[in-house]
Amino acid sequence: MVKSLGSDNHSGIHPEILEALIQTNYGHSPSYGTDELTEEVYKIFKSHFGEKAETFFVFNGTAANVLSIKCFLKSFESVLCAADSHLNLDECGAPEAISGCKLIPLPSPEGKITVDQCREALIRLGDQHYSQPKMVSITQPTELGTLYSYEEMKALSQFCKENSLYFHIDGARFIHAAHQLNKSFKELTQDIGVDVLSFGGTKNGLLYGEAVIVFSKDKIRDLKFYRKQCLQLPSKMRFLSTQFKALLDRDLWRKISQKECELASYLAEKVASIPEVKVFQKVQANSVFVKLPKEWVKPLRNSHFFYIWNEKDWSARWMMSFDTEREDLDEFVNKILELRGES
Ligand SMILES: Cc1ncc(COP(=O)(O)O)c(C=O)c1O
Repeated sequence: MVKSLGSDNHSGIHPEILEALIQTNYGHSPSYGTDELTEEVYKIFKSHFGEKAETFFVFNGTAANVLSIKCFLKSFESVLCAADSHLNLDECGAPEAISGCKLIPLPSPEGKITVDQCREALIRLGDQHYSQPKMVSITQPTELGTLYSYEEMKALSQFCKENSLYFHIDGARFIHAAHQLNKSFKELTQDIGVDVLSFGGTKNGLLYGEAVIVFSKDKIRDLKFYRKQCLQLPSKMRFLSTQFKALLDRDLWRKISQKECELASYLAEKVASIPEVKVFQKVQANSVFVKLPKEWVKPLRNSHFFYIWNEKDWSARWMMSFDTEREDLDEFVNKILELRGES
């Protein structure tokens, strides 16, 4: 079977997670998160993220982001985020439509924003005509496959504390941040003062499911009400819990991340010697961003699908999934070589 390089949600369910779903599929159990398994999984989250971490499962990543904003901000407040973020580009305006809050996108050539940019954007505070900045949201790893360093994360969090801003992380692929930075989830969240994290499951081997993890005590009460109002309260919650248990309990997350990140580096190294292919972002997580000749796109996508990231320059994203194998990448690179007339 040819594998897609389109996204880490093109793959199916990781076999260990599927097995957990099957094991959970017996008998009856209370709904809406009042079951024993869900209680146990909340504790597993605390063991990874710290005692302050309160977990709320939702169906998808857009909802996790929207709820994070809705719960923390008032509609006249705004969010500083990367121009390239999913929040800004790929959520169809849901954060603004549902929370009422304005997004303030900051230029992010490597997917990242800086403390200096945030400081410059802190303007017109108290001005009734201007939406009031109240949150910094970063994506870690970023949409461009890059990583904020631990120090960069700490600096942004510190800046938020100094300026009474909330700090949100879109962690649809947060497992790669913890693995690649060699830090625990707690070190990257509770310990540095993150207020709320969208923690991804779907892109990391789950059938579906994400978690909003709230660290600020005064916001915890409200999230469950907003979740229900925003149509995101899963009734058969145990099927989300069991998947996250499988992901987190025995470090499956680390195995998945290690494999995907190694494969991304492997592919980047393999194409490095092909002059027409230029890797234009650092490869720090599970994706490779390249520029390649326009006429190669169609034939390559016919065999291994991938997305064009920017139609202006035909840059593309190649992304690894838990079941991508070296042979898939070798086959893909052979197709590129064929197009060069090399085989
Ligand atoms: C960084 C990031 N955040 C959030 C999401 C949203 O996830 P969903 O499609 O489940 O709403 C995605 C999905 O592509 C993503 O890449």
